[in-house]
Amino acid sequence: MQGLRNLWRRSALPHFFSVLVQARHTTMAFAAQVLKCSTTSISFESDQPKIGSPETLQALQCASEQLHALQTVAFPTETVYGLGALALEPDAVSRIYSTKGRPPDNPLIVHVSSRDMLLRILPQGYVISKTYEVLMKQFWPGPLTLLFPTNPSIVPPIITANQPTVAVRMPSHPVARALIALADAPVAAPSANSSGKPSPTRAEHVLKDLQGKVGIILDGGPCGVGLESTVVDGLQPDGNLRVLRPGGVTVEDLERAIEESLADLESKPKVLVHRRDYRDEAIEQAPTTPGMKYRHYSPSVPVTLLLTQSDPPVGTQRMPLRSFVDRLKVSASERRPLRVGVLCPSDSLLPVKLSSRNDPDIEWIQQPLGPIAEPAISAQRLFDGLLSLDGVKVDHIVVEEIQEEREGLAVMNRVRKAAGDNVWIEV
Ligand code: TXA
Ligand code: MG
Repeated sequence: MQGLRNLWRRSALPHFFSVLVQARHTTMAFAAQVLKCSTTSISFESDQPKIGSPETLQALQCASEQLHALQTVAFPTETVYGLGALALEPDAVSRIYSTKGRPPDNPLIVHVSSRDMLLRILPQGYVISKTYEVLMKQFWPGPLTLLFPTNPSIVPPIITANQPTVAVRMPSHPVARALIALADAPVAAPSANSSGKPSPTRAEHVLKDLQGKVGIILDGGPCGVGLESTVVDGLQPDGNLRVLRPGGVTVEDLERAIEESLADLESKPKVLVHRRDYRDEAIEQAPTTPGMKYRHYSPSVPVTLLLTQSDPPVGTQRMPLRSFVDRLKVSASERRPLRVGVLCPSDSLLPVKLSSRNDPDIEWIQQPLGPIAEPAISAQRLFDGLLSLDGVKVDHIVVEEIQEEREGLAVMNRVRKAAGDNVWIEV
């Protein structure tokens, strides 16, 4: 009997059954209501929302009631759409994990609508550092997430995945901030997609992915930033800022803010980007590190990153474009013409070179990422592009690299995670 019990425990079956139970719990659910919100009808006066449009007010009240009934609500933020639940209610938060199929060891960001709300969740007596004060003044509300020490008797450990820190941000999207203020409670929200998929930047992306699993989707139009917030750890003893996930606030923005506002400090904190400027063995192995352990941002078809500018590693030759296309025809679907999505800057030479071959076996479907000189537009269009190409049923997607500067750093971070392979190509 003991042997049988051990066999059961060691097998994947317990996990399989718990997933089945979770799936039942989430798929039993509701047809989603998509409620339109007018962002321009919302303004703030001393952290309190004033909502001019009755339709928007009703949608927000309805969403707030849903949150207080411990259900999830999808809502727009300036970065991507979020799947929200009351952060201080473990039962509500567990619905986020089951709805997304999110691994329980990946912690969530807590969203607040005011500094007062932030102070309510921090450990008593905690003094916010001068550097954090500068960052909050400059970038909140906005796409910057900061790690704070957590008190597990206030913030349930299901949020932090038992980490000693809690990630917090104050979104600037009027719908997000008004919802949190109306609910008068901090809201945990990961991106509103099934785990592993690209993050949604429009209400229709959420509907397509989470239909039947979420009751209310607030539709505030397309997200302005287009990829997620920058996650920063400024709690290390050396006082430096460690960028765990590049995002909407660029490293250059962070450096400028420190340079300008902490000019009187003798030694100013440095901004260090994980894997670019430092490596951390503990972080490499810890499953909680943003986006490292798990498959990320992947549409349902394979994605190849085409490296057209950066140097290949020693010993690797650039592949001629023709050879790459021939390889694609062999490895991708047998459908002819093969439909290949191309995400690249609008002023890149790549699409011209690709279509100049006039190959009847391949149809190239372009999704321009905006001018090379404007990486913020590439950021805004990346997930939208991946999801649109997936939606028109391409067989394969190729993404051309852009410079890892300003928003380009976050764009390339997401593309590298979405891509199954990288090819250094000769254009
Ligand atoms: O822009 C955003 O941040 C969006 C919108 C909805 O606000 N949210 C978002 O959440 O991207 P999510 O769950 O998709 O990504 C949160 C990232 C994860 O990579 C997670 O590992 C990291 O933040 N994170 C959360 N809490 C953390 C902590 N205590 N320590 C280190 N990383 C943490
Ligand atoms: Mg996400």
